[in-house]
Amino acid sequence: MEIHILTILPGMFVSPLEASILWRAQARGLLRIHLHNTRDFTADRHRMTDDTPYGGGPGMVMKPEPIVAGMHTVQERFGTAYVILLSPQGTLLTQPLVKTLSQQERLLLICGRYAGVDARVQQYVDAEVSIGDYVLMGGELPALVLVDAVARMIPEELGDEHSAVEDSLFNGLLQGPLYTRPAEFAGMHVPAILRSGNHTAIAQWRRRQALQLTLQRRPDLLQHAALTPQDLAILRELEEAEGKGQPA
Ligand SMILES: C[S@@+](CC[C@H](N)C(=O)[O-])C[C@H]1O[C@@H](n2cnc3c(N)ncnc32)[C@H](O)[C@@H]1O
Repeated sequence: MEIHILTILPGMFVSPLEASILWRAQARGLLRIHLHNTRDFTADRHRMTDDTPYGGGPGMVMKPEPIVAGMHTVQERFGTAYVILLSPQGTLLTQPLVKTLSQQERLLLICGRYAGVDARVQQYVDAEVSIGDYVLMGGELPALVLVDAVARMIPEELGDEHSAVEDSLFNGLLQGPLYTRPAEFAGMHVPAILRSGNHTAIAQWRRRQALQLTLQRRPDLLQHAALTPQDLAILRELEEAEGKGQPA
C-alpha cells in the first residue's frame, strides 16, 4: 500500500513513522509512505500557503493553488490516488471506513492548518474524513491516526504478534478483557478459564465477555454487529440478568 501525505509540516511525521510496526512495515516494503511539503507547490517568492479569509474573520485560510498543484503533481508522478482531506467536517473515521480505505492501492492525505482549507479544494477530493468530534490544530495528527489504523489492516504487517481480527470494533463488538502474567496481581486473579487450556471454552468465554462489554458500554454497536443466534441468546440472558430485557 502506498500513502502520500501533503502537509506544511512534514517533520511532524518523522518520529512516528520511524517507530515500531509502522517502521517495520515500511522496511519490509508492505507500506510506502511519501511526505510532500505543500510549500514546494507554491509559485510565489515567499512560498505562501495561506491567506486572509474573504469576508473577514479570525485566522488564515489555506490557499487552494498549492494544495491542488501538489495533488496533481503527486498523481502524475505516482499514479491515481484516492484523495482524502482531513477535516473536522468530514465523515467520522470508523473501523468499517478504515477497512474500506485499506483496500485502496494508493491514498493521498491532505492536511489542513490554520482556520482550514479553501472550500474549493473539496471539488478535487474523494472524501473528507474526521477522526472525531473535536478540533485539532492541523491535519497531521489525524493523518497519522488514519495511517496507523489503515496499516493495521495489512495482514502481513501484524504477523503473529497482533491480530486485528481480535481488535475492538473489527467484528462490530468491543474486545473483552485481556490478561498476561502474573496470574495474580494485587489480589486480583486471572479468570481460571483462561488458564484451563480448553480453547473452545476460552473462545466462548471471550465472545460472551465481548458481548457483555459492548452491551454495557456501546449498546449502539449491537445494531450493526454480525450476531449469531447464540450471541442473541447470550444477550437476552445478559439483559435479563440486568433486569433490562423482557423475560423469555
Ligand atoms: C484548526 S482546524 C480548522 C477547523 C475549522 N475552522 C472548522 O471549524 O472546521 C485546522 C485543520 O486541522 C485538521 N483537523 C482538525 N481537527 C480535525 C479532525 N477532528 N479530524 C480531521 N482533521 C482535523 C483539518 O485538516 C483542518 O483543516
